[in-house]
Amino acid sequence: MSLIQEIDYGTPASKAEKTVSLMIDGQQVTVPEGTSIMRAAMEINNEIPKLCATDSVEAFGSCRLCLVEIEGRAGTPASCTTPVMDGMVVKTQTPRLKQLRKGVMELYISDHPLDCLTCSANGDCELQDMAGVVGLREVRYGYEGENHIVSKKDESNPYFTYDPSKCIVCSRCVRACEEVQGTFALTISGRGFDSRVSAGMDEPFITSECVSCGACVQACPTATLQEKSVYDIGTPEHSVVTTCAYCGVGCSFKAEMRGDELVRMTPWKDGRANRGHSCVKGRFAYGYAQHQDRILKPMIRANITDPWREVSWEEAISYTASEFKRIQGKYGRSSVGGITSSRCTNEETYLVQKLVRAGFGNNNVDTCARVCHSPTGYGLKTTFGTSAGTQDFDSIEHTDVIFVIGANPTDGHPVFGSRMKKRLRQGARLIVVDPRRIDLVKSPHIQADFHLPLRPGTNVALVTAFANVIVTEGLVNEEFVRERADLDTFHEWTEFVAEERHSPEATEAVTGVPAHLVREAARLYATGGNAAIFYGLGVTEHSQGTTTVMAIANLAMATGNIGREGVGVNPLRGQNNVQGSCDMGSFPHEYPGYRHVSQDDTRELYEKLWGVPLDPEPGLRIPNMLDAAVDGTFKGLYVQGEDIAQSDPDAQHVIGGLKAMECVVVQDLFLNETANYAHVFLPGCSFLEKDGTFTNAERRIQRIRKVMAPKNGYGDWEITLMIAKAMGYEMDYNHPSEIMDEIAASTPSFNGVSFAKLEELGSVQWPCNEEAPEGTPTMHIGEFVRGKGNFVITEYVPTDEKVGPRFPLLLTTGRILSQYNVGAQTRRTENSRWHEEDRLEIHPADAEDRGVRDGDWVTLRSRAGETSLRALITDRVAPGVVYTTFHHPNTQANVITTDFSDWATNCPEYKVTAVQVAPSNGPSAWQEEYEEHSRLSRRILAEAAE
Ligand code: SF4
Ligand code: SF4
Ligand code: SF4
Ligand code: FES
Repeated sequence: MSLIQEIDYGTPASKAEKTVSLMIDGQQVTVPEGTSIMRAAMEINNEIPKLCATDSVEAFGSCRLCLVEIEGRAGTPASCTTPVMDGMVVKTQTPRLKQLRKGVMELYISDHPLDCLTCSANGDCELQDMAGVVGLREVRYGYEGENHIVSKKDESNPYFTYDPSKCIVCSRCVRACEEVQGTFALTISGRGFDSRVSAGMDEPFITSECVSCGACVQACPTATLQEKSVYDIGTPEHSVVTTCAYCGVGCSFKAEMRGDELVRMTPWKDGRANRGHSCVKGRFAYGYAQHQDRILKPMIRANITDPWREVSWEEAISYTASEFKRIQGKYGRSSVGGITSSRCTNEETYLVQKLVRAGFGNNNVDTCARVCHSPTGYGLKTTFGTSAGTQDFDSIEHTDVIFVIGANPTDGHPVFGSRMKKRLRQGARLIVVDPRRIDLVKSPHIQADFHLPLRPGTNVALVTAFANVIVTEGLVNEEFVRERADLDTFHEWTEFVAEERHSPEATEAVTGVPAHLVREAARLYATGGNAAIFYGLGVTEHSQGTTTVMAIANLAMATGNIGREGVGVNPLRGQNNVQGSCDMGSFPHEYPGYRHVSQDDTRELYEKLWGVPLDPEPGLRIPNMLDAAVDGTFKGLYVQGEDIAQSDPDAQHVIGGLKAMECVVVQDLFLNETANYAHVFLPGCSFLEKDGTFTNAERRIQRIRKVMAPKNGYGDWEITLMIAKAMGYEMDYNHPSEIMDEIAASTPSFNGVSFAKLEELGSVQWPCNEEAPEGTPTMHIGEFVRGKGNFVITEYVPTDEKVGPRFPLLLTTGRILSQYNVGAQTRRTENSRWHEEDRLEIHPADAEDRGVRDGDWVTLRSRAGETSLRALITDRVAPGVVYTTFHHPNTQANVITTDFSDWATNCPEYKVTAVQVAPSNGPSAWQEEYEEHSRLSRRILAEAAE
């Protein structure tokens, strides 16, 4: 394996269709109109020297190294800023150009520390390369003049260093921060000799607006901005392309290694989801994989109050199998089940559901997608015919109106958030529907056209009011509807939404959003050109989550915003493989590919393939498993890569269910909260240690590749195989690629997928089969998957979770950029520097009413429970609404959330909880108990280790 070197074309590709031809150094080249001379030369492997140009940002033309001569033109223009023209004749190597370039390099080098041999970028420095390329042998100006060599380093960022002594002020970092990331954290301050890169008002990176995406570090041609890991470990010598294991964007990275040590994760330019960009999590927060808290040996215990006992893999597996067999013998076949994880690969997930269906002999399998995007599956399947988003991320480049509802892309899906911001800077219009003023509403060079701060829990009323405006004001795309929709359902729907009770004026009292804003936003969505809807858990995690998804789909169909580039309905998936875990048959009622377990033909297919009779009855969902456990009929659970004690609602009920079971098997990297109630702990392996595939929010199937051997000795897929074998159901695979072959052979939308295809194409978006051998970027072109688009009546039913004198405020929850979900990974990295604790955002008026000051401890109480955290007073939330993140286990926002859930899918209503807030002196009794429990667990673990 060698280090993957990506070609830098110097300037971005032109998207023009028209081409022009020119001669460069006697060679003809034909390129799209608008291409720079520099890029045209690169197309024929003629690398013109450059320093300030790089193909991730627009050309700037400051270094004057890339000069060329053009026949018939005076002077020596910069090739990076000069576009090609038909018939142009260019020379890139003449004695005059050589002389000029040498002169430029002399100036740079005269003000540069000549410590190349000990520099962290030695061998990976463009300045060093260019000195060689231009043949610099001496510096006539000497090194004694005024210089920047003693400038002080900024080491405040935990992941990278800024060393101004090495800066050539090429501004690549500034442009990357602006154009790629969209944060505008950097400027060039001062003039002439005093010019320097500054984060904000000359403050350290750590306190500036910088969000540590790493784009500037990647763009820097010198060691000025450099990963600290390169200082520590040295420059990498081989690399492996893999996929980020955090969010549903699915960024591709080069894992750059020195020996078996990971030096850095560098975003891969050919990654179709991220196009060479990254966020702080994928780029830097991978240290958890090596964290000392990782458990590497299997452990068992007869009772959850016993100390853990380290055992061999053989003993752990045989204990697991004998317990599950004993339980099934005593309590029946349905008394055990499994939970798959949206963090694990498609292949691992497929195996867990296969183990449950074929090995356990029931359909008691569910996934953590239950608690996030299950309404997406149900809602989009009902309306369009398939349970997935309709576009690829590139589609946004053709979008004129971006409609974001219940999502916070700059924190939750940061790399796509940056692409969104780029499109907005290019002139797209923006509608944001969110109870909270998310960053996208107003950030540098971006201002939403509409921010509709609705009352939590009223999505259906608001989206139906949009529909009312569209229907009653004659904004329906009649032609599209006539051709593409089921007209019976369409007419029923128009009659329904046109009722006066759905008008913006009538619903204003419910949603809290002024009617005129709803009218104007609806008009913009319907008439502003290509309009695309992006939504997240603020849509799905409600008692009417599925209804809102269908209301959104109705809007897209009524306005013809579906079935081409630039439009569509796009669920922003939370975890890296939420889409994949749903695709792989993780739900108790569906086989892979969303086929119901009661369908005879599908069941027979799997009976033949798996060689056992299968249960035609749907199994238990997670909440039902826990209910059954409390009732005494469900006794054994295999949980792969999921922490239901922390991530599922009504934590006390979850814990009650877990405590009632006789064998809980947890397979994970760390002793998570669920493991506190487990009898068997099977150490899992990190994404760096496994082969397989993830499917991102665009339905894009991408490889993750092993960059180091599993520290626990086995891949997660192998552990499932061992359990199956010990249970008496043998599964026979030698490599995850063989599992994918089985998935492809038995799942119509995956028929054309194989590891070989993924090697060839890089990635594919399902459906990938005979009709679409290279995958399907845009769905529902010409026809919906279900045939005619199905309009659904979306009656608004207020949640039973209501404010009142005891609980007068509404709590809603969300994520922050630097942390991830329950924080199991990010809390074990330096990312905690940015978010050490969850805080409660509260409006100044509500805080004043309660005598709460900024930073005070407050008690947050609902009818489900109480917790304490510190207050953050802000008008980002409206009066009557409070907000918190849920990244830290000692906050446990889920202690507060209730057991209400979506009517169709049981997805918990995390986003609406009636609460009261009162000043407190510190952590609540529950948290004290939790801390005590954690201390006890750590002690038991330490004793076991001794
Ligand atoms: S920090 Fe790097 S990218 Fe930025 S101006 Fe200096 S040398 Fe150029
Ligand atoms: S790390 Fe990202 S946000 Fe921070 S300065 Fe660099 S480009 Fe800007
Ligand atoms: S945007 Fe998501 S997938 Fe991309 S690097 Fe960040 S966490 Fe990873
Ligand atoms: S690379 Fe063209 S001016 Fe710097």
